Amino acid sequence: TAPLRIAIAGLGTVGAGVIRLLDTNAQLIAMRAGRPIEVVAVSARDRGKDRGVDIARFAWEDDMTALARRDDVDVVVELVGGSDGPALALSRASLGAGKGLVTANKAMIAHHGLELAKLAEAANAALKFEAAVGGGIPVIKGLREGTSANALTKVYGILNGTCNYILSTMERTGADFADVLAEAQRLGFAEADPAFDIEGVDAAHKLAILAAIGFGTQVDFANVRVSGITEVRSADIAQAAALGFVIRLIGEADVEDTPEGPRLLQRVRPCLVARGHPLSAVEGATNAVVAEGNFSGRLLFQGAGAGDGPTASAVAADLIDIARDEVGAPFSIPGDHLSALPPAEPGHRPARTY
Ligand code: NDP
Ligand code: HSE
Repeated sequence: TAPLRIAIAGLGTVGAGVIRLLDTNAQLIAMRAGRPIEVVAVSARDRGKDRGVDIARFAWEDDMTALARRDDVDVVVELVGGSDGPALALSRASLGAGKGLVTANKAMIAHHGLELAKLAEAANAALKFEAAVGGGIPVIKGLREGTSANALTKVYGILNGTCNYILSTMERTGADFADVLAEAQRLGFAEADPAFDIEGVDAAHKLAILAAIGFGTQVDFANVRVSGITEVRSADIAQAAALGFVIRLIGEADVEDTPEGPRLLQRVRPCLVARGHPLSAVEGATNAVVAEGNFSGRLLFQGAGAGDGPTASAVAADLIDIARDEVGAPFSIPGDHLSALPPAEPGHRPARTY
């Protein structure tokens, strides 16, 4: 059978991880996908950089949008990052050319998800972003397909590996915030600009995507209320521990009935989590998402939320779905109905304790 031919833009932590995974698991992927997945072309900033993987066997494009114009490419994998700029230009060009798009870019999906989904719909092309939320955890698929028969009451959890690594390491070792952040950067967990992590913006991007999928609304990043962990001190962590709590950065979306109708509330902020609550035991760069459905009850999705291997695993799973022609809908409504996604109703509520 003809291989699925892909191009990869961005060869950093995740891009190199995807090449490593596709090399290592080539045989089992070909079996499960029903055909091989073959990298044809790549692009990044610096062609000469050592990336720990052999890229000399692939065609190279200096201008990454040229990947979208190649006749020998079926699917473009965007692993550059940034909500706009080259990642968005490449994504628009790829879908516009009728090519499938796989991305790990939560910032771009949080800001432009609906526009890209409409482009994909118009071109009958795949748009997949499992790696954008929760690293290796199949939480997008889990929410979109696994809970599709439920009305969700709430989605919440630990959505940023860097912050969780910092908070849980400070708690365990008493180490300094800046030192632990530097370690998270070295391990490849942090964003290119780690302010996105520690200020809560990355978790807010992910929450906006999860809320849209879980509640069947348009992505509404602008109305996520965000506060990050930059104000959390070792003394706060020690005080919380003395009272039987840990501090975790929690993203939460739920629907509140008001006299004006239901409102979607989306918040990201450091919370006190009681020891004994499942989220209190989530350590390191692990993520955990809790979804409560009216028939499913409480579901917990947990696993590595960042890093090359787990993230590559989610990207490759999307590619296998495309190779099998099991594409699914980008959000919770399939087919020609994206325009019917209702806007989210903004709202907010004061901080709480778990
Ligand atoms: P890196 O910073 O490690 O890699 C980014 C890559 O994009 C590099 O290869 C870089 O090129 C290339 N690049 C950046 N800007 C440009 C540009 N202007 N023109 C051309 N190439 C460019 O990022 P990550 O691999 O960590 O992240 C990639 C994406 O995956 C992001 O959207 C991120 O949010 C997301 N993600 C990351 C996770 C992680 O654990 N790291 C987990 C889940 C999602 P060069 O190498 O030549 O400098
Ligand atoms: N910087 C992100 C995090 C990467 O730390 O969670 C995974 O999305």
